[in-house]
Amino acid sequence: MNFVLTEEQIMIRNAARDFAQNECKPGVIERDSHMTHATEQIKTMGELGFMGMMVDPQYGGSGMDTISYAIAMEEISKVDNSVSVCMSVQNSLVLYGIEAYGNEEQKAKYIPDLATGKTIGAFCLSEPEAGSDATSQSTIAEDKGDYYLLNGTKNWITNGKKAGTYVVIAQTYPEKRHKGINVFIVEAGWEGVTTGIKEDKLGIRSSDTSSVMFADVKVPKANRIGPDGFGFKYAMKTLDGGRIGIAAQALGIAAGAYELALAYSHERKTFGKPINQHQAIAFKLADMQTKIEAARMLVYRAAWLKDQGMDYATAAAMAKLYASEVAMEVTVEAVQVHGGYGFVKEYHVERLMRDAKITQIYEGTSEIQRMVISRSAIKGKTYLPIEAKSEEAPV
Ligand code: CAA
Repeated sequence: MNFVLTEEQIMIRNAARDFAQNECKPGVIERDSHMTHATEQIKTMGELGFMGMMVDPQYGGSGMDTISYAIAMEEISKVDNSVSVCMSVQNSLVLYGIEAYGNEEQKAKYIPDLATGKTIGAFCLSEPEAGSDATSQSTIAEDKGDYYLLNGTKNWITNGKKAGTYVVIAQTYPEKRHKGINVFIVEAGWEGVTTGIKEDKLGIRSSDTSSVMFADVKVPKANRIGPDGFGFKYAMKTLDGGRIGIAAQALGIAAGAYELALAYSHERKTFGKPINQHQAIAFKLADMQTKIEAARMLVYRAAWLKDQGMDYATAAAMAKLYASEVAMEVTVEAVQVHGGYGFVKEYHVERLMRDAKITQIYEGTSEIQRMVISRSAIKGKTYLPIEAKSEEAPV
């Protein structure tokens, strides 16, 4: 077993850390308070290659592995989760699927601008009445011969208002249920595409979340991804990778809050000594660090399985479940270590605590992750050690 990062991974970590500390940290509190979109930071993120990290360089991507992506996500998420959620959606939910399942024409047309961040993408699956129960799609894509007529509303869409390209899941044959669902690339400028107001949220407040409406939108047949009826599988496979991104985000939130709490525990003195010399605080730090390390192992393992071309669906669900719960626990403790200072915005930990909550909800709630994991467990699948590179070995 090798836990040593490669030189390239260290370089990426340092570049992501510099970007987060130098470009994202200044103004992060104000952007959060006023719900101001981090437009400049996201543009720079694209120029640095973080928007298409795993995309083949022939399409303008950075051609990196999933572990590098998780490392970069962690560093950026220590600082600004409104920026890192945009990065996660772009890489995992938008680009991965188009590259893996799109045809050559679709890839050549849409990937280069998305991979360099010139165009922002959004993934439109959730609906007012279909969140966890993703098969119950009411958005309809009616087959009209040489085009589909798209009608419906999507909710909670990250990058909803800023996106130029939407990946949209919609039902074509309701009687076939999930086997009748399709997936399309839809351009924001097409007639009939509109967006709702920017949501006023508990956390990731500067990220762009809105509903997206489709009213008699004509989608050319050429913009359907994959075979007829492939849309639900596409969404599930895409979300498997997305869950690694959000797990890495949750890990970054926890690690960022821990680093702040540790630094504060050296500076702050009570009863004549730094607070980390009191067992009450020292043991909190021990628990926080242990949970973060365990979460990191699950995130890296899921990323590694994906890079090996092995089945990673359950590993990704475990990573997201555990890392998001750790993010919540660690940020609450980080606020506690800071005492009253933790309750004010200037010290950053209260924002990380608010940001942590969404990682237990989006891209599959903790309850959905438990569904995915338990279904695999009940089938008798085992996880470690991995003994062979076969689809059957790990899950
Ligand atoms: N990979 C490939 N295929 C999969 C799969 C996977 N990971 N998971 C399920 N499938 C297939 C099944 O094999 C089945 O196919 P067959 O009928 O051919 O056998 C089909 O999909 C239906 O599967 P299920 O019977 O398991 O479906 P279900 O209704 O029980 O639901 C679920 C499964 C896992 C709960 C799914 O509905 C789910 O993941 N729900 C949560 C959705 C979600 O994560 N939403 C987040 C929105 S995106 C977001 O948050 C974005 C953002 O902007 C940040």
